[in-house]
Amino acid sequence: MNILEVKNLDVHYGGSRILRGMSLEVPERQVVCLMGRNGVGKTTTLKSVMGLVKLSGGGVALAGEEISKLSSDKRARRGIGYVPQGRDIFPHLTVLENLKIGQIACGHKANGRFDRVYELFPVLKEMLERKGGVLSGGQQQQLAIGRALLTRPKVLILDEPTEGIQPNIIDQIGETIAKLRSEMSILLVEQYLDFAKALGDSFYIMDRGAAVASGPIANLNEEVIRKHLTV
Ligand SMILES: Nc1ncnc2c1ncn2[C@@H]1O[C@H](COP(=O)(O)OP(=O)(O)OP(=O)(O)O)[C@@H](O)[C@H]1O
Ligand SMILES: [Mg+2]
Repeated sequence: MNILEVKNLDVHYGGSRILRGMSLEVPERQVVCLMGRNGVGKTTTLKSVMGLVKLSGGGVALAGEEISKLSSDKRARRGIGYVPQGRDIFPHLTVLENLKIGQIACGHKANGRFDRVYELFPVLKEMLERKGGVLSGGQQQQLAIGRALLTRPKVLILDEPTEGIQPNIIDQIGETIAKLRSEMSILLVEQYLDFAKALGDSFYIMDRGAAVASGPIANLNEEVIRKHLTV
């Protein structure tokens, strides 16, 4: 079954049409990589799933149920965890406060998920009282992922989690995604090919607002890469 189905999305920013019939499917317990050059509409696709942009056409279904009319917080409560590009943590709140926002946003009481987050990202547990803004980029990314996990997502959406992050933390984030895949489905926007290939089950490549190639990750070969991804 598909946990997430994105069908024929159209999105406009002002007069320009940014998404043009964008569709994709995320099967249960799979990692789907969404790729494409800069500015093709990857982030806009994720924002559409999360309800952060207005659709002029198309729809989004979660576990078979149409959700495009729901507010973002309702979507979070239904089971979509979102880690935005650039991480968006609150710099003046502590690590613990940042984490609690994930939990509050979802409307759940304390429930043991904190332990799971500390197990995945031990560095966060050591820094609970530190302000979010003093963390390194990699630590902030871990915090943003931890915050999303506290909403107990069925599907976790990650927008370029490796962007601007040092290699050893990239490896740690990769290991975390590998661990999470048995618990949830993951939609990953990723420019870093080796990372996508190592973690993905399948891929979609976007160009100018629509998917132009897709398939099992093994089909992401040199020819596809040259045609759609190299600049
Ligand atoms: N709020 C906005 N208002 C107007 N245009 C926007 C807005 N946000 C994005 N765009 C434009 O929409 C297009 C798609 O942007 P989007 O951020 O979805 O691309 P992307 O594939 O995520 O790019 P990147 O790889 O740089 O993150 C781009 O041309 C961008 O300039
Ligand atoms: Mg983007």
